[in-house]
Amino acid sequence: MKNCCRWFGFILVSICFTNTVAAQDSTPREKLLFDSGWKFHLGSEWGSAQNLSKAASGSGPAGKTFSDANWRTVNLPHDWVVELPFDPSADAGHGYHPVGPGFPQNSVAWYRRTFELPKADSGKRLWLDFDGVYRNCDVFVNGWFIGHHDSGYSGFRYDITDVADPGGKNIVAVKVDASEFEGWFYEGAGIYRHVWLEKTSPVAIAPDGIFVESLFKNNIPKDSAEILINVSLLNHQTNFSIKKLAVNCEIISPEGKSIAKLKESRKFVLPELQLGLATKIGSFELWSPENPKLYKLVTTVSADGKIVDRQETEFGIRTVAFDKDKGFLLNGQPYEIKGTCNHQDAAGVGVALPDALQYFRIAKLKEMGDNAYRTSHNAPTPELLKACDRLGMLVLDENRVVGSDAANLDRLQSQILRDRNHPSVFAWSLGNEEWNSQGTAEGAAVIKTMQNLAHSLDPTRECTAAVNGSYGSTGFITVLDVKGFNYNLGSIDPYRSAHTNETFIGTETASTVTTRGIYTNDTTKGYVAAYDFITKKKSRDFPNPVTWGETAEQWWSFYDARAWLSGGFAWTGFDYRGEPTPYNWPCINSHFGILDMCGFPKDNFYYYQSWWKTNTVLHLLPHWNWPGKESQDIDVRAFSNCEEVELFLNGQSLGRQTMKKNSHLQWNVKYAPGVLSAKGFNGGKLVAETKVETTGEPSAVQLSPNRATINADGEDVSVIAVSVTDSQGRIVPVANNLIHFELSGPGKIIGVGNGDPSCHEPDQFISHLPFFAKPVDDWRWQKISDANPTNLPETAEQFDDSGWQKADVHSASGPLQGEAKAAFRAHINVAAEDLAATSVELTFGMIDDEGYVYVNGQEVGESHDWRATPTFDVKRFLHPGQNTIAVAVVNSTGAGGVNKGVELRFQKITTTTDWQRSMFNGLAQILLQSTKEPGEIKLTATAEGLPPATMSVQSEPSTPRPFVP
Ligand code: GAL
Repeated sequence: MKNCCRWFGFILVSICFTNTVAAQDSTPREKLLFDSGWKFHLGSEWGSAQNLSKAASGSGPAGKTFSDANWRTVNLPHDWVVELPFDPSADAGHGYHPVGPGFPQNSVAWYRRTFELPKADSGKRLWLDFDGVYRNCDVFVNGWFIGHHDSGYSGFRYDITDVADPGGKNIVAVKVDASEFEGWFYEGAGIYRHVWLEKTSPVAIAPDGIFVESLFKNNIPKDSAEILINVSLLNHQTNFSIKKLAVNCEIISPEGKSIAKLKESRKFVLPELQLGLATKIGSFELWSPENPKLYKLVTTVSADGKIVDRQETEFGIRTVAFDKDKGFLLNGQPYEIKGTCNHQDAAGVGVALPDALQYFRIAKLKEMGDNAYRTSHNAPTPELLKACDRLGMLVLDENRVVGSDAANLDRLQSQILRDRNHPSVFAWSLGNEEWNSQGTAEGAAVIKTMQNLAHSLDPTRECTAAVNGSYGSTGFITVLDVKGFNYNLGSIDPYRSAHTNETFIGTETASTVTTRGIYTNDTTKGYVAAYDFITKKKSRDFPNPVTWGETAEQWWSFYDARAWLSGGFAWTGFDYRGEPTPYNWPCINSHFGILDMCGFPKDNFYYYQSWWKTNTVLHLLPHWNWPGKESQDIDVRAFSNCEEVELFLNGQSLGRQTMKKNSHLQWNVKYAPGVLSAKGFNGGKLVAETKVETTGEPSAVQLSPNRATINADGEDVSVIAVSVTDSQGRIVPVANNLIHFELSGPGKIIGVGNGDPSCHEPDQFISHLPFFAKPVDDWRWQKISDANPTNLPETAEQFDDSGWQKADVHSASGPLQGEAKAAFRAHINVAAEDLAATSVELTFGMIDDEGYVYVNGQEVGESHDWRATPTFDVKRFLHPGQNTIAVAVVNSTGAGGVNKGVELRFQKITTTTDWQRSMFNGLAQILLQSTKEPGEIKLTATAEGLPPATMSVQSEPSTPRPFVP
């Protein structure tokens, strides 16, 4: 883009090269991970949480005094949909989980987290940052409503300074409502990305307040890079009177050397200030997927000589552009996009991916030769972009909803401000297949407004959208910077002939459907043969054929032959839950992936690898276990980039064939058990060999971790591949044994999977926490005159209430009229075994109107909402034997009292869960996460008839990221 002149006004400031990095300046900014120890409850039995009549009085779980003692403890990221069973009456697109429209009981949930703030935090600005909550959530802090966010994909943050209590106990409560879908695919539900608590001084860098760009003359990296830094600051001081506000920027090279220092200073007399700094770097390392070199910008802010903020920003030096003839240019050179579209869910965890899994998935895609990732169809989590920056993967960063209404533009703006420093992001995608508007004049106007906004926030990148029709003279295609084509290979050349000055990208292609390790279609089981084929005709075998799709070979040959098209994105890298094309139930996930849900490659992986990578590839399919098919024809194929491939069955040549570019080879082979092997030749020289063998019966389980050492930070994950092998150690490609897993040491299992698109086994084994209840029935009551409920003798542990009237606490209304006040007392025997429960709650169906609750004379809490079901955490107040419960009630109008039943709920002690999973075609996966304790994590796998297998992952001492205790 032509953006050099835009920065004319920037002051080119002093540059100094040194070899040492300045000692880290201390800063008041703290960014604390807020992921652990949340309480979770599926359901919302408390009516509207937001009390509009009075502030700071959120009711039910929104309230400060509510007890969540019996709720399950979860760590974020958390997706509750992956915990739900499958249900054939649920939405196929969303993976047949009973959530969303039609399933109100599973669609609304609450999260609560209690936290202490040190006294020293008073005077600081406090922020709650949510990276993503699916969806429609209300957030409360200390009973105050602090915000509503509807999108399930964009991040959001709230300044909670006013309502927080430094030096005290604070409570954040989040009501999440996934009753309505946002997309047409599996979306999960819950706080499924990280949450952060950020503390800053009143004068600080604004959220997403740093933008760093590298610019070159003519957008071609040569000579020197101009680094432009824009810093936005906030001043929350009441008098806005800073005489000297200084911003110091230091640039650290990928090797960790300080290479430039910049400085700017001003008066700061307003609530907001923006500063621009610029410098030139003479020698630089360019970022690319092959060489993902990252620089670091350290920004330090001081006010009147005192450091008030410091932030580190990773960035890359690189240029991106699109050319009408050469297609996409990275660093001035044509760079073919070998991309995949991907949803954000994975086996075992749904959409709640620990960061380590993002790295695992990006690494898998790179192994295939994939160099670009489209975040279809939503804003990604920031952690995905970090993984792409660091491992080297371009990103087409996609927006979810198309619209130029204020709320939508606001979301787009926050996505761009958040993501624009990532070198991996090379373009913005404004939307996907908007068939109601992509061909209309209004649609064009809306896209234009969105695109203009994107340009104004980020002049370094262009915009596209995934358009699947309406390639005429109205609509999206007429205004987009880069024309994005979904499928429709037949429309591309005619469009291009009429628009030779335009630029293009294949936003979505392929949609080839295959099942890992399956070589015949099976409508009953819902499996599709893993050959690279597409059937467009509806038939018994293909009730929902992929009429719009292309094989890997078709689309890649087409794109590769047209440089101006820039390459494209295959639908999809990984299988994902939902969209179970071409079958519905029993299939619960898609077949589009080049890798399955777990990241095990299907055969097409090797097609792409052959033509996307430069190393020699030779792969044969299918497997060679076909008992009963002796002498029948088997369709054998080779994916390879060798010039010639020769096939052998049991040592006998079945012929040598020449490979065409971007193609595959095929033989019809009469099946005989044994060894099917292939040799690959370049220039007549043997360069590769491979084989598939008929295996024996399952005889062992193998456990192979992707990482044998992980960090004891409570977040890190090792991805364990489970395989079943024969006596010679060969994976049995048809094995489906059920494996049980047991774990000891400082770790836990967080999910299992096997890549079977029709498997209805759970991915998670949750220890649901059952409780048993004891009714508190023996109540008496007496009017009292003192309006002040504290120190009432009637609420003490010992008080003679034998002469009081009996009270029926099960009715819907009580004995108190008008503005009466009364004490209610009950006695209950609690056994010592009951008190061994993990928690005990005291629950009232209703206290009408105000209630002050005591257990054995000690105050346990208050209730001020007659509609609520006040619940108190009382374990610590109870003792074995006789206990006294007392409530001082102040009625305002109507018939008040203690109503609708009272009970003590004892939560049962949890037992360990039995994690298990069936193998699918020889493979399964188990995700193992560290705790914060270092040590050896031992996993044992057992299966009927096979010897147990064990494996260890070492969890190494490591400093966890700063977190909220
Ligand atoms: C596309 C759409 C994707 C997915 C895919 C399945 O048309 O953009 O979201 O539904 O089809 O082939």
